[in-house]
Formats: sequence, structure tokens, C-alpha cells
Amino acid sequence: MTYKINPDLSTVDWAYVCELFSKVDWRKREEAEIAAAFGRSSWTLFIYKEEQLIAFGRTVDDGRYYAVLADIIVDPDFQGNGLGKYLVNALNEKLGDNYHFVNLTAAPGKGDFYKSLGWKKQSTCFIWPQGPKQLRQHTEPEEEAGN
Ligand SMILES: CC(C)(COP(=O)(O)OP(=O)(O)OC[C@H]1O[C@@H](n2cnc3c(N)ncnc32)[C@H](O)[C@@H]1OP(=O)(O)O)[C@@H](O)C(=O)NCCC(=O)NCCS
Repeated sequence: MTYKINPDLSTVDWAYVCELFSKVDWRKREEAEIAAAFGRSSWTLFIYKEEQLIAFGRTVDDGRYYAVLADIIVDPDFQGNGLGKYLVNALNEKLGDNYHFVNLTAAPGKGDFYKSLGWKKQSTCFIWPQGPKQLRQHTEPEEEAGN
């Protein structure tokens, strides 16, 4: 297994990255857009088995106050081997203690994965929904009017 932190992003096979997004049933990524997004990230981490990309993740942050982990993905053929845990812990370690807030958005059903790594559900987090599916999957039911 090879672990690459902040590699030269021109060496990454972005078409294959897009394939892995599809393989875990996430919304379709465009090669140029995801390459640019990784390019604007603070830390990127890619895991290869021999030459094959099998997992990746990244962080986005402002250098001091806010940091976010994003796109934590392990090829389903290699899940259950500690790679997801490694990605999250390694990226979090890279961020260090410098930030006021370190957050992430769990994919639906993946909250327990993060809980198992010590992450806490944030009671004060709000989202501006980017559509009805996100509203359904990422928010709690509204309280009754008047409450
Ligand atoms: C979620 C994901 C990153 C986990 O990666 P993984 O390599 O399979 O997980 P690991 O083997 O590192 O598991 C670490 C721990 O989390 C637990 N875990 C893994 N997936 C879990 C889940 N869906 N629910 C609850 N616990 C889970 C494991 O049992 C393990 O516990 P242990 O350390 O006590 O043995 C992977 O399933 C994935 O890429 N899924 C698709 C994309 C996704 O949902 N990404 C994360 C959401 S943003």
C-alpha cells in the first residue's frame, strides 16, 4: 500500500477518481471540476495498492478558524480494512489543533462510522439545502409550527 499526502495532482487519474465516486453511488463528478476542487484543498490523501487508486480524501480550510474533511472514499472492494479510519485520522492529524471548528458532513447512514472514530454529532450545525433530496437526507424533521 502506498500513501500519498499532497501529491502532484497532475499525476492523479481523475477519470478513475470519478469512477470511484460512481462506484460508491455518489453524485456524478466531472473530471475537471473535481481536479480543480482537490487543487483548492489544503490536504489531499490518496492510497494506492500497487498502481491502483483504492481510497482518497481531502480537507478544505482557511488556515486558522474553520476546517472541513471532504470526499472520504474507499473503493468498496477494499472497504472494511481500516482504510477509511486511516484517511479520517491522518487528515485530522494534518489539521492539528489549530482550528476553532473541524467539521464534516457524513453521508446518509455513515454517522456511526464517524462516531466509532470519536467524532461527535454537532447539535448546532445548520445547512442551506441544495435541493429536496438533500433536505430529506441531511436534515431533521421540522418541529410543529408554534413550538
Ligand atoms: C465509510 C467508509 C469511508 C468506511 O471506510 P472503511 O475502510 O470501510 O472503514 P474502516 O475499515 O476504516 O472502518 C473503521 C471503523 O468504522 C466502522 N465502520 C465502517 N463503516 C461503518 C458504517 N457504515 N457504520 C458504522 N461503522 C462503520 C468499522 O467497523 C471500523 O470499526 P473498528 O475500528 O471498531 O473495527 C467507506 O465505507 C466508504 O468509502 N463509503 C462510501 C463513501 C462514504 O460514505 N464516505 C464517508 C461518508 S462522508
